[in-house]
Amino acid sequence: MGRYLVPMAMVAAMVAFAVAALTAGVTPYQPQLWASVVPLAVLGGVIPMIFAVNIRVVPVFSRRSWPDEGWLRAQVALAIAGAWTVYAGYVAGWEALVLAGSVLALAGGIVFMANLARLFRREPEPRPVPPLPYPEHAAVDAVATRFMRLAGIYLLVGLTVGVVTAVWRPGVGRWDLVWAHTMLIGLMLSMVAGVCYHVLARWTGRRWRSIAAIRLHFALVALGLPVMLVALAVDQTALFAVAGPVEAAAIGLFLVNLAPALVGVRLPVFVAATALGIVPATFVFASVGAGLDSIVHAQGAAYHACLAAGGADCRLDFDPSAALTPQLIGALVALGLLALVPVAVKKAFPRKEAHVACKPREPA
Ligand code: HEM
Repeated sequence: MGRYLVPMAMVAAMVAFAVAALTAGVTPYQPQLWASVVPLAVLGGVIPMIFAVNIRVVPVFSRRSWPDEGWLRAQVALAIAGAWTVYAGYVAGWEALVLAGSVLALAGGIVFMANLARLFRREPEPRPVPPLPYPEHAAVDAVATRFMRLAGIYLLVGLTVGVVTAVWRPGVGRWDLVWAHTMLIGLMLSMVAGVCYHVLARWTGRRWRSIAAIRLHFALVALGLPVMLVALAVDQTALFAVAGPVEAAAIGLFLVNLAPALVGVRLPVFVAATALGIVPATFVFASVGAGLDSIVHAQGAAYHACLAAGGADCRLDFDPSAALTPQLIGALVALGLLALVPVAVKKAFPRKEAHVACKPREPA
């Protein structure tokens, strides 16, 4: 497999996220640009990132090698080209470009599924089978595989919705939301769930708290999301009021399942520590946001006043140096120092038991 394909896909994803964030920042003045933000973040950010992780990880766990590197490159290139074409189409207000980009992105998704199908048609190589972290984990792996299949289905469904709605929009329904939630919950969160359930116990050596809760998570997503999407598609508020909370419960259950596997602490301790731990960073981010907001508003007010006065050379400027107030710099320094506290505490109070906690438990 090409050495540069995975890093390039990751870099492309980061660039897309950054441009999407910058575009979102301009939407107070150019509201029509909002339509380009979510598509760029999803098509140019989420999808190339998922492709990169799959290209790297799937051969390891399946004990197979990709049959053809050219098709992997085509998959990534189509996805990236599609994303930026859609973005350009929305920014320029040119529907033909949005359609062309959506078709390219769908082609990338189809090549992705075809590459996976070809990979799994191959015989596994005679490499040692990665051991189960504990015998019951086979049941968790089965749910993880189902989540990944679901992600693949939603990828194709979402990309197809993108192409169809670029050509024709039904009279009813909130199709931008159908598309966004198909891609973000159906594709992204299902893929994240599949990967987490597959690898976390292997990496951390900790058991999942409850296989039944993992199965329930899958059932809630499998039932709740299609109903939520149909409710959005037909604009049925009553149906949405049922399916939305089911989907939200699924996301909550996922976090509850993850907490002990990720940090190895009991849930109440995890919730309390998170609530306490996010306070300092929240203050810093809120003060950064408030500072930027007031600067953006001041610049916007000056611009509109200039327009109202009939000025010929009105410009909307943003001076980044104005954002660097002493309070902001102080807050960032404080955040940096805060991040060093755990390191200092660990140095001051080394704990031998920490290694024991990471060892796999004996099977029951
Ligand atoms: C848990 C169940 C969820 C429900 C009930 C829900 C509901 C909604 C609703 C009602 C809107 C429209 C808001 C408006 O009218 O302005 C919306 C927008 C949006 N949601 Fe969700 N959401 C859920 C989960 C998620 C998740 C997990 C993500 C991302 C990972 C997400 C991403 C978005 C985005 C990006 C938009 C804006 C879409 C656009 O304007 O194009 N949602 N959501």
